[in-house]
Amino acid sequence: MTGSLFDRTSNELPLDKKPEQFNADSIDVLRDVLEYHNHRYYVLDDPVISDSEYDAFYRRLEALESENPELITPTSPTQRVGGRALDQFESVEHRFPMLSLQNSTTPDELRDFDKRLRKEVGVETIDYVVEHKIDGLAVSITYESGKLVLGATRGDGTQGENITSNVKTIRSVPLEIPFDGTIIVQGEAFIGTGDFLIFNRAQEEKGEKTYANPRNTAAGSLRQLDSRITATRPLDCFMHSIRNYEELSIAHHHDALKHLDTLGFKVTPFRGLASGIDEVIIICEEQHGQRDKLDYGIDGLVVKVDEFRLQEIAGFVARAPRFAIAYKYPPTEGTTVVLDIQASVGRTGTLTPVATFEPLLLDGSTVTHASLYNMDEIERKDIRVGDKVIIAKGGDVIPKVIKVLNAESDEHKKRPEFKMPEKCPICGSDVVKDDDAVDYKCVSTNCRAVLQRRIEHYVSKACMRIEGMGPKIVERFLDEGLIKDIPDLYILNFDEIATMPGFGEKSAENLKSEIEGSKSQPLWRMIHGISIPGIGAEVAKLLVNKLGSYSAITSADQESLADINGIGPVLAENIFSFFRDDERAPILEGLKSAGLAAFDEVHDVVTAIEGASGPFAGKTVVLTGALSQFSRDEMKEKLESAGAKVTGSVSKNTDYVIVGENPGSKFDKAQKLGVAILREEDAIGMINL
Ligand code: IVH
Repeated sequence: MTGSLFDRTSNELPLDKKPEQFNADSIDVLRDVLEYHNHRYYVLDDPVISDSEYDAFYRRLEALESENPELITPTSPTQRVGGRALDQFESVEHRFPMLSLQNSTTPDELRDFDKRLRKEVGVETIDYVVEHKIDGLAVSITYESGKLVLGATRGDGTQGENITSNVKTIRSVPLEIPFDGTIIVQGEAFIGTGDFLIFNRAQEEKGEKTYANPRNTAAGSLRQLDSRITATRPLDCFMHSIRNYEELSIAHHHDALKHLDTLGFKVTPFRGLASGIDEVIIICEEQHGQRDKLDYGIDGLVVKVDEFRLQEIAGFVARAPRFAIAYKYPPTEGTTVVLDIQASVGRTGTLTPVATFEPLLLDGSTVTHASLYNMDEIERKDIRVGDKVIIAKGGDVIPKVIKVLNAESDEHKKRPEFKMPEKCPICGSDVVKDDDAVDYKCVSTNCRAVLQRRIEHYVSKACMRIEGMGPKIVERFLDEGLIKDIPDLYILNFDEIATMPGFGEKSAENLKSEIEGSKSQPLWRMIHGISIPGIGAEVAKLLVNKLGSYSAITSADQESLADINGIGPVLAENIFSFFRDDERAPILEGLKSAGLAAFDEVHDVVTAIEGASGPFAGKTVVLTGALSQFSRDEMKEKLESAGAKVTGSVSKNTDYVIVGENPGSKFDKAQKLGVAILREEDAIGMINL
């Protein structure tokens, strides 16, 4: 007896047996008992024993397995705690592509969808299933002979990453199911709102990093190479599809969901059955009001044709099925008061106005600050201290002021308008505004804020990738006089650092090897890292590919720089004068004497700026909205290495606009100009991350 195919609804399991009554011969039954209780707790939310009783069974299993290691199985409950760390995830091909969904935001769009579909499938009234669209991460899980054998991420939809050990740590995902054939299920892994708060609180109490939102934490946790870390995260998973339903002779999606229930899966709890689109619309409207009451994040609903036969007739467009559509809710909004507006100084000296608000709880996190971007934005929206404002934020989105309330009132008009300071709030130097630019800048090259941001940028992931050197450490090293500028990183005294409070030998040693390691970073990363105004990763790579070496870049005249396609006169001047600025010379000299590989004469051509193949080769791309899987810089870098040119504004020359959550005016403009729009996840899929 394998002990795996028990029927969870019957009483076949010896549930009254005590832990010590199990032995090596009945180890499989003990496992089933544990998984039965696991299912009651994590899936049904209806435990029948206490945590300590469960622990006693679990310890018994651990003991039996340690006495008889040959009896350990890959789907034993003990395997949920994670195992060996991987170097990288293996790539796996999906037997069924993992698709995206078409989007709608209004009832009319839903009606159009239904109208097209009815025409397509030749049916008067279509029955739909409406489910919550869980705001998490798509996973595909394969079971063979009742055992979980593969868990994979979506990847590019065709190929994903093998994250089996991580999926096994999710307590609500059964490791074994009472079904002897092959079944491929798809679901959404997530962290519940309450679990997220508890997890973050515990992190805070331990003095460890806290996380911004459940979705990104879930995504980061599932893509951990060390599954023991994944096992410590409160991941959960709702299943919403059986992909090989044909092999199981199931004819309707709602039956597939029921089947998933009986197999012991945790299934999307809300499944509205609607006959015709009008009923769908009613459900969508009703559910909107329920959103705040749920213990998991949703970003809308998914409307699916119920009958598989009709789904098959409807077929697919590009990467999305024609038989399903997402109905997305608008971002969550709230009202608060602007308490203050302060200018914050960035790494190139640009002053950014940042508003402080009366704390406002939105979508599970408290909003206290938001960037107001620049003076144009403040003037356009007429934001003043004391104003009541509407703030929007959806999921993990950066909060944004949408509008000022009562902007016509006398009260508002009496409030003073915000003015950029004439002197830098950090160093007191003059602040100037370029005539043709919207930016205000601190003129000093010695401004402490600018210096700190420059160093932070140099060590960042986008540039020299010195891990363990976050903003707090940069600030501290500057405060304590350990560094005065970037080159000092390479002459740090690590023996001294090891004795500093909060450090130790191990962390000093790690930092040392990170800094040493950064010496071999390619030239483009260093060029990007030294903060030449206007020069991002893309131009840095162009320079390296066109000119070949640091000495060629620094000795190029302004005209030949401007001749490089993608650079132009303004950037050429910035580059030219940067390398001739007396104040920069010691920094560049310092880096040279540190022995950075960037100063070598020969460099590899940087991947694929020009002549790259793939969907983004030679394409001009604009990003808008908040991204959920990578930071802006990371995404930009990834697109650039896939051959894209990432620019800041949308024009008719733009090939794609990639939209995250809460896209801004660039999205509207793209729609007006008919520029192709890609969702973040599609773009990620296309670059095959
Ligand atoms: S069905 C054709 N049902 O949304 C794709 N997807 O934007 C079939 N998602 O990648 C998906 N909740 O990971 C479906 N109840 C639900 C869902 C759901 C969340 C995700 C899914 C997919 C993404 C598409």
